[in-house]
Amino acid sequence: MRASERVNERRLWQRHVDMAKLGGLPRGGVNRQALSPEDAAARRLLAEWAAARGFDVYGDPIGNLYVRRAGTEADAPPVLTGSHMDSQPTGGKYDGMYGVLAGFEALEALEDAGIRTRRPVAVIAWMNEEGSRFQPGAMGSAVWGGDYALSAMLDVTDRAGVRLGDALKDTLSVAPCRIVPDFDRRFHAYIEAHIEQGPRLEADRRTIGVVTGIQGSQRYTVDISGEEAHAGTTPLRVRKDALRSAIAVVDALQRHMNDPADVVRFTVGRFECRPGSPNTVPGHVHFTVDFRHPDATVLARLGDGIERVVAASVAPCTAKVVRITDVAPTVFDARIVDLVRAKSEALGLPNMDMPSGAGHDAMHVAPHGPAGMIFVPCERGISHNEAEAATPADLAAGARVLVDCLAELANE
Ligand code: GLV
Ligand code: MN
Ligand code: MN
Repeated sequence: MRASERVNERRLWQRHVDMAKLGGLPRGGVNRQALSPEDAAARRLLAEWAAARGFDVYGDPIGNLYVRRAGTEADAPPVLTGSHMDSQPTGGKYDGMYGVLAGFEALEALEDAGIRTRRPVAVIAWMNEEGSRFQPGAMGSAVWGGDYALSAMLDVTDRAGVRLGDALKDTLSVAPCRIVPDFDRRFHAYIEAHIEQGPRLEADRRTIGVVTGIQGSQRYTVDISGEEAHAGTTPLRVRKDALRSAIAVVDALQRHMNDPADVVRFTVGRFECRPGSPNTVPGHVHFTVDFRHPDATVLARLGDGIERVVAASVAPCTAKVVRITDVAPTVFDARIVDLVRAKSEALGLPNMDMPSGAGHDAMHVAPHGPAGMIFVPCERGISHNEAEAATPADLAAGARVLVDCLAELANE
């Protein structure tokens, strides 16, 4: 029997419904930011489900959560899958959570089919993929991969000044598990399932996206300092208005990022003006810059120009520019890409090869071993939005492809 025959569409859907209650928002989305009480509740629920099926549950020092089904050879490098359970502040029910629940469904399907695998198969719920509360994002996978230092990340604070290490301690007090002392990077293969977060599968009426790679990205913070002053008395020509300078800087950055081919993705997603009083000239503006491109050379050229563009347009204020992340484009392992395509074909699922525009934990896993991803459609490609939607049938189809890939890899 193929493991995919035991994928249970209703069970997988119900698990999404249950998880969506944790941090559920009135307009149908979720706010389950990393290491919040809602995230802790999701970790606890996943661990309960895992315990009920006899799977091993443990964590690592940055708070990645593992659910592991044993193989017949305990020491064989495992096959890994997973994604993240944290969300954007106004996120949807599927971004990240689908990859964790599809992975968990795969473990259950293997169990229900009575399939023993040589290698262990583990689902990882990577800590803080979104990076909306604690920057940078994809933090759990990046620390696991050795791209960011553990100690530095534990000291990152959120906007309320809460240290990540303390939030992790609080989370573990609500959702306790055994913590292994070190990161184990030995693995045989990694496959992450995710909703597409773009419109191509729906438009082309395909059920499975065979993901070939992920475009590169960089993220920056820009802090512009001017001088607070009285709005009624201070002539415009002597002001150091941080907001006026910030508008000029964003405008200059927009021109720097201009791409007639519309391949560059440039976003200022956070823009904070202080003190935020109607009758005080703003003294400080903080904003973020996120931009992406599939070509490493273009990415580097755009990134290397940022400081110069900011400096040239910020007068009479001053600016501090900090690069938060620089993630190179990812090319997935050809054998994993071929396997995802072959398993989709074997299941009779219409599929297409495609790159990922969004970032994923897989980009920090891929440098360490064979990795790939499976996409399923989401309605109108909408994501990072409470309206994010996917069908039970498509979610189950992706889980079927996933488990057939995992079962084959786990017996190699
Ligand atoms: C992940 O959410 C990303 O920003 O691509
Ligand atoms: Mn995601
Ligand atoms: Mn996301």
